[in-house]
Amino acid sequence: PPPQKKSAPQSSDSCKGCREVIEKVIERYSQTWKKQGDNYQKFRSQLSSKCHGFDKAIITQANTPVGSKLVYDGEKKRTLQVTQELFSTFAKEHPFPNKTWDTCAVVGNGGILTNSSCGKMIDSAQFVIRCNLPPLEKGFEKHVGIKTDIVTANPSIFIEKYGGLMGRRRPFVESLRSYGNSLLLLPAFSYGHNTPVCLRAVYSIEDFQSPTRPVFFNPGYLQSLAHFWRSQGLRAVRLSTGLIMASLALEHCDNVHLYGFWPFSNHPHGLRALTNHYYDDRQTKTKFHAMPAEFDLLLRLHSQGVLKLHLGDCE
Ligand code: CDP
Repeated sequence: PPPQKKSAPQSSDSCKGCREVIEKVIERYSQTWKKQGDNYQKFRSQLSSKCHGFDKAIITQANTPVGSKLVYDGEKKRTLQVTQELFSTFAKEHPFPNKTWDTCAVVGNGGILTNSSCGKMIDSAQFVIRCNLPPLEKGFEKHVGIKTDIVTANPSIFIEKYGGLMGRRRPFVESLRSYGNSLLLLPAFSYGHNTPVCLRAVYSIEDFQSPTRPVFFNPGYLQSLAHFWRSQGLRAVRLSTGLIMASLALEHCDNVHLYGFWPFSNHPHGLRALTNHYYDDRQTKTKFHAMPAEFDLLLRLHSQGVLKLHLGDCE
């Protein structure tokens, strides 16, 4: 037989020893899911009281006045005093139109979304959160949807795809078109090197009058979130973007649905080989994230009826 292409593997040969792990996951997953209002309320109030995502997740002019000191969440010893110039890039007021939403979809980038036909179901949520400027154009739309209320961007994307925004910035701004007037959530104060490139992203958006609305993660919030998940048993250097956004959704939404969260290399049904992302096969940095451990916690919340993980195809 001809050699199989690495990007679209078909067989389950790559499933070395994964069968047992995946079968255990599916056993925990397959019990009929039902929302457990009391578990949900309990978890939400724990999370809110520890992290205050409502008021603190995003930097605003109200919660971060001129003169305040930002402490970088990835480099504890680094701080930055807010100048008038920096302050002027902060959101004037809380950027969410309402405090809570009925249904939120948090879309991870896992290859499990490939050919899932989940686009319509994702887009039917009142509020849709996506991670790391994922491609949504034709071909993907059917499987991941198009609606976007918040999209995050890791500065490594600006470096790798847009020359660190040091040269022409139009291609970057044009790439934002698929997200309409959504919020672009940037971790500008996680590491020192994130700050200048995130500010260049903000200035590019302003200069080209893009409708996208850039906002910054509050490093104090990310810090308290890491602490919260550590208290739930998670040992990881950094939380994954997906877990951060799922946490944010748990504070803001009555019903949280997760799609594209599946850190294994084979599909739960039939074990066909999967790429790491629905759009490429770039691997996750296991040095920083502990995706299977995160997944285990999310599966626990699914079993408790706190949120709903979607692992199957949608049609
Ligand atoms: O930057 P990061 O590695 O955190 O994220 P990503 O690879 O762009 O994917 C976005 C999110 O989807 C991750 O943070 C994970 O929470 C989730 N994901 C997953 O659960 N399984 C995968 N195979 C890939 C991503």
